[in-house]
Amino acid sequence: MKNIRMSQGIANLLMTGVLTSAICFAQPPRSADASVEQKVDSLVRLMTLEEKLGQLNQLSGQWDEKLKRQVLTDEERDLVKKGRIGSYLNVVGADATRDFQRVAVEESRLHIPLLFGLDVIHGFRTIFPVPLAEACTWDPALVERAARVAAIEATAAGVHWTFAPMVDIARDPRWGRIMEGSGEDPYLGAAMAAARVRGFQGRDLSNPTSLLACAKHFAGYGGAESGRDYNIAQISARTMHEVYLAPFKAAVDAGVGSFMSAFNEINGVPATAARFIMTDVLRNEWGFKGFVVSDWGAVEELMNHGVAATREEAGRLALNAGVDMEMVSRIYEKDLPAAVREKRLSQVAVDESVRRVLRAKFKLGLFDDPYRNCDTSLAKKVTLTKEHRDLARIAAQKAIVLLKNEKNLLPLRKEIKRVAVVGPLAADTFHPLGGWNAQGSKDDVVSVFDGIARKVSPRTKVLYHRGCEIEGDSGYNAQAAVKIVRQADAAIVVVGEGLDMSGEAASRSNLDLPGKQKEFVKAIVATGKPVVLVLMSGRPLTIPWEAENVPAILEAWFLGVEAGNAIADVLFGDVNPSGKLSATFPRSVGQIPIYYNYKNTGRPFEEKNHFTSRYLDVPNTPLYPFGYGLSYTTFSYSNLHVTNPILKAHEDVKVSVDVTNTGTRIGEEVVQLYIRDEVASVTRPVKELKGFQRVSLNAGEKKSVEFVVKHDELGFYNLEMKRVVEPGWFKVMVGGNSVDVIEIRFELQEK
Ligand code: NOJ
Repeated sequence: MKNIRMSQGIANLLMTGVLTSAICFAQPPRSADASVEQKVDSLVRLMTLEEKLGQLNQLSGQWDEKLKRQVLTDEERDLVKKGRIGSYLNVVGADATRDFQRVAVEESRLHIPLLFGLDVIHGFRTIFPVPLAEACTWDPALVERAARVAAIEATAAGVHWTFAPMVDIARDPRWGRIMEGSGEDPYLGAAMAAARVRGFQGRDLSNPTSLLACAKHFAGYGGAESGRDYNIAQISARTMHEVYLAPFKAAVDAGVGSFMSAFNEINGVPATAARFIMTDVLRNEWGFKGFVVSDWGAVEELMNHGVAATREEAGRLALNAGVDMEMVSRIYEKDLPAAVREKRLSQVAVDESVRRVLRAKFKLGLFDDPYRNCDTSLAKKVTLTKEHRDLARIAAQKAIVLLKNEKNLLPLRKEIKRVAVVGPLAADTFHPLGGWNAQGSKDDVVSVFDGIARKVSPRTKVLYHRGCEIEGDSGYNAQAAVKIVRQADAAIVVVGEGLDMSGEAASRSNLDLPGKQKEFVKAIVATGKPVVLVLMSGRPLTIPWEAENVPAILEAWFLGVEAGNAIADVLFGDVNPSGKLSATFPRSVGQIPIYYNYKNTGRPFEEKNHFTSRYLDVPNTPLYPFGYGLSYTTFSYSNLHVTNPILKAHEDVKVSVDVTNTGTRIGEEVVQLYIRDEVASVTRPVKELKGFQRVSLNAGEKKSVEFVVKHDELGFYNLEMKRVVEPGWFKVMVGGNSVDVIEIRFELQEK
């Protein structure tokens, strides 16, 4: 059936006589790229202006309550037939995409397939830890495998393209979208960005399990002033290049197929209209060959920004800046045809954008098989498999960060007689999914209570009380929870944010435990029982009281479907925690933005000198620094060595360090390497991460860990905004977090 339909489509095109080279599959192309270019050129020559702008038009699928899936409305069916829609987002399920695709490839003049996009951010149905948590694994290979699983599941449900990875650097935990990225550091962020691109896209986009990736949001979105979503970003050119752009560049180098422009403005220019970033940097400097999609409605929003007076003007600005495809505001489709006809917009610019979109469709193999992801029997077989869940559990285990463990309260013994599991998130199966959870279902999630109940000995009594709600003060009943805690040998208090308290449009000005939860924790601690706090959140929270008064704290973020199992694995010692923070925990909101790679200032803090950079009411230091995380064992660092301490031009730096497991059990340590350029022509951060490795060490074992820091990694953008490496002295710092490091110096010589 499929082949007959396809060949009819092809036959029709052949009759036009123009597309012969485009569909002459029998002839082996000189190279894959050249062949794609020929096909794209031929197709563009056949297209009307409306069909061209149609390829740049993306709409969102409409839900049909009866069919329980997205359907084409009458208006949209007509538009698809006319070739005036090139892509859909939010159409999910092979049955739905097959229906949509059928209209495009069988009822439109040129039979150009639709491209289906979706936010597959941390899993499709098998939900993995939220990206901020996944970054705490400091394990790019694992993150790549997680993205691969997401791609396998999403493509089986008709999806071709994910709006991920989100690679925005965030130094402000008030910003809810910090949850969707890899935290505050450009180096870790770049490693995670590349890993996710590789995982989503696989080796070859034409493989049916390959999911086209999209690096977003380009650029500076994470710099939203005051942490308020969609707000403006004031970012210097140097910080932009060195901090915010680094993970985007890594995504390009990893072969990412698409980009999404950001909602925010950068220094007076809305990203959606920022040619200097989308064309000068992305295409001309970095050589990106894919296409750029706008964010939702962002082209139209250029009018709100106050840089366009009309829809048409907004459309022209965006397209000329480099936004190839427009998400949902339908300006390209409705307002740009006249602009081109009346010569206010260049046909050449439109053609170039169309080429980029068609290229992606060819590379995905959609012209060879537009139904490549429409096999309705596949999803069941490859979704939420045991193998996928197992991987989600490993990712969740490694993402957990042990923040405090006074007197080795953890791990708990499985033979404990009675354990109380309390708090609004203790038995919850919805919130561990985290925001942007695609097709995640709470029915798939293991709660902390269930994870613990499965873990402990059959003789252990697991007691439960909810105690309070996540937000608000209704249903507050600390007393009842206290009563059961009193009967127990230890209490596990599971508190935090709801999943909708981070993510898009979810900024907070107060990062304490919300609602009555703080009071609740205090009531439980007041029982005098051993208390373990398990935090779920999409961002660092301000927990100074808890850090002072609760003996053990686990940051468990939103860990996905295996949350409860992974948390129980760590609580009861089957897994030794090894996660390290991907973002700094402030002591108070007043310290924000707070990050480890700050600048020294002319008056760095000195205890005895009042006129140094400080607050009157809070230390400068964070509550928990970037890279921090405890283990049930301890590690020591010694013998830090630079093999070539007098470095010549262009030489890489070779560093070795001995890491010893000084405790009594096997554990994994994330060994982190930071550098500082001591004196340079522009000020440099006090520390910059330039390498990390995860090593496993048996009790008492010592390993030599070696790093090679590429010469270019010592560089920065100088006054002329050229990337340079300047001679002089550098510090190398190595340790298990960004604060507790040992250090050594080396000199880079002029010649
Ligand atoms: C808006 C968000 O900013 C973006 O990240 C997302 O991909 C789109 N909506 C589509 O859902």
